[in-house]
This record gives sequence, structure tokens and C-alpha cells, in this order.
Amino acid sequence: MLQLNFPSFPTLETERLILRSHAISDAETLFALRNNDDVMKFIHRERQKTVAEVEDFISSFNEGCKQGRHLAWVIALKENPNQMIGSIGYWRTNLANYRAEIGYMLHPDYWRKGIISEALIKTIDFGFNDMKLHSIQANIDPGNDASRQILIKHGFVKEAHFKEDFYFQGKFLDSEIYSLING
Ligand SMILES: CC(C)(COP(=O)(O)OP(=O)(O)OC[C@H]1O[C@@H](n2cnc3c(N)ncnc32)[C@H](O)[C@@H]1OP(=O)(O)O)[C@@H](O)C(=O)NCCC(=O)NCCS
Repeated sequence: MLQLNFPSFPTLETERLILRSHAISDAETLFALRNNDDVMKFIHRERQKTVAEVEDFISSFNEGCKQGRHLAWVIALKENPNQMIGSIGYWRTNLANYRAEIGYMLHPDYWRKGIISEALIKTIDFGFNDMKLHSIQANIDPGNDASRQILIKHGFVKEAHFKEDFYFQGKFLDSEIYSLING
């Protein structure tokens, strides 16, 4: 069984970005992102209704990071590290199989500038070399062309198309599963 055991939160850096832990002070920005219709168009999750709910989410998510259950980063530009512009990480893990699911989102002001690509390269490298994952999975809504293209660009391969496997707000939705294997 894989164990995620980092003595302190592993902050990462890329050329333009800092990938850091979630702080309670990110709650308002995260609340706005999770209630932005453009960002959430293909992310089928119940929306938090108050900033306080997001604060609770951040606290329990950070506790899960400490306990080695998952690991995800706030994306910020190096010149303004306190300002969250997106997130990326392994929100769900399947440690028995050395596998984790990656997910990401970015504020629309920053789309198509290569930011998620830059963050993805770093987090894939960290996932394989530091977390010791064997494979990384991504689940997308089949309508999410942007997410599909970015995954393909970074070597992910389509493994499945599940029909109506996901029930959300009264509808059964399809999912596409992509994966990247280390090696
Ligand atoms: C998907 C998303 C994360 C892409 O982030 P981004 O930083 O704009 O992506 P990048 O600039 O790094 O783009 C990398 C590649 O992805 C693809 N891509 C990105 N946006 C695209 C779009 N709107 N349409 C088609 N392809 C797109 C392209 O192949 C692009 O390479 P190119 O610019 O050389 O053509 C961003 O659009 C987003 O946050 N969307 C809403 C949240 C979301 O759907 N998350 C994924 C849930 S599974």
C-alpha cells in the first residue's frame, strides 16, 4: 500500500508559478471560483453556498493532506503568491493501487496562457517521483474539449467512456477516463 508521508506540505515552484497549500484566507477566492459558471461548466459538484462552508472544506481538506489521504495545491503567480488563481492536485487517491485522480481549474482571466500546462508538468513529475504513484487518472465530461486537449498534450491516453455512470442534479451524465502510466 502506498503511503503519502510528507513532513511538511510540499510547496512547488515552476518558472511562473508557486504551487502552495490552501489557506483559510483563500476561501473567498475559492468560493468565487466554485460559483463561476464558466469554470464549473463541466465540473459536476454541488456548489458551496457560503464562504464559511468553503473554509470548512479547506480545513478538512488540509487535515486529509496531513493524514496522507490526498494532496492538492493552490496555483498562484510568483509575483503575487497570496492571490489564488486556480488549483491542481490529487483530490482522490487509490493508494492500494498506487493511483490518484488529478483535477485542476483556473480563473478564466488566465486561460490559454499555458498555466495549467506548467502546473501539470510539475505535479505529474511530483506524483511519479515523490509520491511514487504508478498511474494518474483524469475523469472528464465528454463536452470538456479544453480538458481533453490538455490531457492528450501531456501524454494521457483515453481508457474508457462510461455511459450515464454519473448522476448529478437529476441527470445521468457520461464520463471519459484518461490515464498516464509511469514508465
Ligand atoms: C481546462 C483548463 C484548466 C485549461 O487551462 P489553461 O491554463 O487555459 O490551459 P493551457 O493554456 O495550459 O493549455 C494547454 C493546452 O490545452 C488545450 N486547451 C486549453 N484550453 C482549450 C480550449 N478552450 N479549447 C481547446 N483546447 C484547449 C490546448 O491543447 C492547449 O495547448 P495550446 O495552447 O498549445 O493549444 C481551463 O480551461 C479551466 O480551468 N477550465 C475550467 C475548469 C475545468 O474544466 N477543469 C477540468 C475539469 S476535468
